[in-house]
Amino acid sequence: MSEEQTNQQWGGRFNEPTDAFVARFTASVQFDQRMYKQDIEGSVAHAKMLTKVGVLTEAECADILQGLSEIQSDIESGNFEWSIELEDVHMNIEAALTKKIGVTGKKLHTGRSRNDQVATDIRLYVREEVDHVLAEIIRLQQGIIGLARQEADTVMPGFTHLQTAQPVTFGHHLMAWFEMLSRDYERFADCRKRVNILPLGAAALAGTTYPIDRQMTTELLGFTAPTENSLDSVSDRDFAIEFCAASSIMMMHMTRYSEELVMWASAQFNFINLPDRFCTGSSIMPQKKNPDVPELVRGKSGRVYGHLMSLLTLMKSQPLAYNKDNQEDKEPLFDAIDTIKGCLRAFADMVPAIEAKRENMREAALRGFSTATDLADYVVRKGIPFRDAHEIVGKAVAYGIEQNKDLGEMTLEELQQFSDQITADVFDVLTLDGSVSARDHIGGTAPNQVRKACDRAERMLSARS
Ligand code: ARG
Repeated sequence: MSEEQTNQQWGGRFNEPTDAFVARFTASVQFDQRMYKQDIEGSVAHAKMLTKVGVLTEAECADILQGLSEIQSDIESGNFEWSIELEDVHMNIEAALTKKIGVTGKKLHTGRSRNDQVATDIRLYVREEVDHVLAEIIRLQQGIIGLARQEADTVMPGFTHLQTAQPVTFGHHLMAWFEMLSRDYERFADCRKRVNILPLGAAALAGTTYPIDRQMTTELLGFTAPTENSLDSVSDRDFAIEFCAASSIMMMHMTRYSEELVMWASAQFNFINLPDRFCTGSSIMPQKKNPDVPELVRGKSGRVYGHLMSLLTLMKSQPLAYNKDNQEDKEPLFDAIDTIKGCLRAFADMVPAIEAKRENMREAALRGFSTATDLADYVVRKGIPFRDAHEIVGKAVAYGIEQNKDLGEMTLEELQQFSDQITADVFDVLTLDGSVSARDHIGGTAPNQVRKACDRAERMLSARS
C-alpha cells in the first residue's frame, strides 16, 4: 500500500493534508477489505435504486455496474492496490470506480453515507457467515448422531462431580452434546433474524432528501425489511454483540466436549482413541500423542469471550448516532467468525473418527459402585422405604470398599447381610446392561432410547438443512 499522498475525499474543508501517522491510525482498510464483495453488492443495489427513482440515468447505472464488476474481478485476481490514504474498503472501491469510469463514479455516493454503507456491509457479511456457521453446526451434529448410533449400547460410567455416579451409554452422553449444539443453532438462527434488516438509506444519520426507494434495496439485497429509524440504523451494532454472544456460548459448550475428549484420551481414562491425524507428538518425549485439536478449541474460547467483552465495551455509553468507535467492531467480529468456523470444522471432521475403547469404558463402569442406585431401587421395590434402602446400600458399599469388591461381584450371602429382602434376582439389576436398559423413557440412557433420540435428531436436522 502506498502512503505518500493523503486523503483528499473531503479536501474541500481542509487546509492541510492528514498527518501520515493519523492516516494510518484512522484507516481500517487493512481489515475491512474482506468486505469488498458485500460493499460492491450494496453499491450495485444502491445504483439500481437511484436509477429507478431518476437520480441516475440508465447509461450512468450501466457504467457503474460495469466498473464495479471489473473492480470485483481485479480484487479477486489480486490486481487491486489497496491504499491506506483512502482509509477504508468503501473509499478504496469508490476511488477505483471513478478512476475506471470517470466522473459518473462520483455520483454513486449520492443519497448515501459511509455510515449506512458500512452498517449494510457488515450485516451482509455476518448474514453470510451465520449461514456457514449454521451449516457447520449441522455437519458436526450429523457426526455426533452417527457416532451415538454406533455407540448406543456401549456402557461407560456416568459422572457427577467427576466421580463415578451411574452407568450410562456412550451414545447417550454424545447426544447430550447434540442437544447443546441444537440450542446453539437456534441462537445463531435467531440472531440472523435481527441481522437481516437493511440500514441502507439512513445516510449519515438523518436520512436523505433524495426520493429513495428503500423497499427496492431491501428486496434486491434479500433483507426482510428496512430499518425503522435512521439514527439507530447507523449506530446499532447489537447484532454483532449477539453474534459474539451466541459464539461465546457455543465455544463454552465446545470447551466442555474438548475437556472430556482430552480426559478420555489420557492413559488414566483410556476411553477413546483420537486418530493420529488429529494429534501431534512431542519433540522430546517419544511416547507422546497429544490431543491438540480439543486442547486448542478449549483455548480458543478465550479470544471469543474476549471479543464479546470488546464489543459490549465498544458500544457502552456511545451517544447517537455513528461514532468512529464503531470502526473497532470489525476485528473482534471477524476474529470471532474465523475462530468459531475453525473450531466447528475441526470438530466436525474429528468427531466421526473418534474410536471408543468399549472394553475400557465397561471396565471403568464396573468399578466405583455405579449400580448402587439400582440396588437401592431394587430394595425399595421389595417394600423398604427409600431412605432405609439408601442406608442399606451405603453399608454394602462400605463393605465393598473394605473387601475391594464391586456390588455385582458379591455373593448373594454377602448381599443378604445388609437386607434379607435381597434374593437371587438382584443380579439382574446389578449388571451394567440391566442398569442402563431400565432407564427406558424419553431422555433416559437406555440403548433403545438413544436410538429413538437419534431418529428424532435426524428428523430435526433434515427439517433444518
Ligand atoms: N471505516 C468506517 C467504519 O468502519 C466507515 C464509516 C466511516 N464513517 C465516518 N463518518 N467516518 O466504521
